[in-house]
Amino acid sequence: MAQSADAVLNQFQKPEAETKPVQTGKKFKVGIIGTGWIAESHVLSYKNMPDVEIVAGADLIPGKAEAFFEAYGVENVHCYPDHTAMLASEELDAVSVCTYNTTHAVCTIDALKKGVHVLLEKPMTVTLQEAVDIMKAEKESGKILSIGFQPRFDANMQMIKKIVEAGTLGDVYYIQTGGGRRRGIPNSTFIEKKTAGIGALGDIGCYSLDMVLNAIGYPKPLTVSGYTSDFFGKSMEYSLPENASRFNVDDFAAAFIRLDGGIILDFRIAWAMHLDTPGDTIIMGKKASLRIPSTDCWNGSVGGPMKLYQEIAGEQVETVIPIIENKGPGLFDKKIRSFLDAILSNGPSPVPSSQILYNQAILDGIARSAELGREIEIEIPEI
Ligand SMILES: NC(=O)c1ccc[n+]([C@@H]2O[C@H](COP(=O)([O-])OP(=O)(O)OC[C@H]3O[C@@H](n4cnc5c(N)ncnc54)[C@H](O)[C@@H]3O)[C@@H](O)[C@H]2O)c1
Repeated sequence: MAQSADAVLNQFQKPEAETKPVQTGKKFKVGIIGTGWIAESHVLSYKNMPDVEIVAGADLIPGKAEAFFEAYGVENVHCYPDHTAMLASEELDAVSVCTYNTTHAVCTIDALKKGVHVLLEKPMTVTLQEAVDIMKAEKESGKILSIGFQPRFDANMQMIKKIVEAGTLGDVYYIQTGGGRRRGIPNSTFIEKKTAGIGALGDIGCYSLDMVLNAIGYPKPLTVSGYTSDFFGKSMEYSLPENASRFNVDDFAAAFIRLDGGIILDFRIAWAMHLDTPGDTIIMGKKASLRIPSTDCWNGSVGGPMKLYQEIAGEQVETVIPIIENKGPGLFDKKIRSFLDAILSNGPSPVPSSQILYNQAILDGIARSAELGREIEIEIPEI
């Protein structure tokens, strides 16, 4: 039977992007755990969501939560001295865990056990075991857990994944990733083991791992040989004396990681160094390779137009992929919205723990291998 012209044309049109309606009848009751620096971005984004009401917040520092919500004009918020008190007193739908890394696990597990959906800031945890414990609680609760990697929503990051998934590179066999800053050691809670657990490795290393691992479908990490150092953070020459004296995490990390499928991952990340960048991200495939320029302040973004290297009709050619402008809401709003939409649709999680577990296994493996001074096997406990 002959098809109508419309039916023929429709075959060549992409299906409309699935748009999930915002449920405005019921408002999500949201709590914020940890009212430090990143909590600001969470609150500003939640305020942009018509179906959200921020009803509670908690911080260990007396008066901090109260002052925070007042500063951001969020009224009628019940404030608590820690996450335990908040979870015990409130009936919440969701929480953002915005605490420093060492309390990510306890806050997330306690919230999941209370039956609350969780948006957890990156890095997922400090250790692999904590990530496993979180996933066990997630499985038992049946709640949504999403990890806060907002670069996932950047059109340029998505383009990297599209290029790999389209088969443009062929089989990928070698990846170099990482980046860093010439001088860019944060202070506050980021530089001590008791609060951050790990340094540059966790803070910005998790982003550059996610950039490439998400693109290639998160293969399982098998072995790692890692190195960490702290020359800049501990130095009175490069750090303020009050920071140098309490600095006890890494400010540089490097590793050689073997992934399932025979893929090699060469990684380095720096909060400080005598160099502009330790290198661009490169993804080498049997058909083509991709170069992703580094930024001078590694923050989970693409530093310039990417370049594709391949051979066409016997000629070695290079194709520049211009920077794609992000449209619509900002990346943080997209991160928050995707979490809320996943709750509404009962999953899947936009940034699932099942993927980030491997990111965490690598961070944990680098830290342990560096301490032992030798290559180690990565063993992922049963969940
Ligand atoms: N996605 C991003 O772009 C981004 C950017 C910066 C930081 N982060 C991440 O966000 C997290 C927080 O970073 P920050 O700069 O806001 O840290 P911060 O130290 O400024 O704030 C953390 C707050 O959590 C509170 N806290 C800790 N444990 C608590 C508990 N059990 N109950 C209640 N409050 C508790 C602390 O008192 C502190 O005020 C870190 O894991 C960091 O890696 C993400």
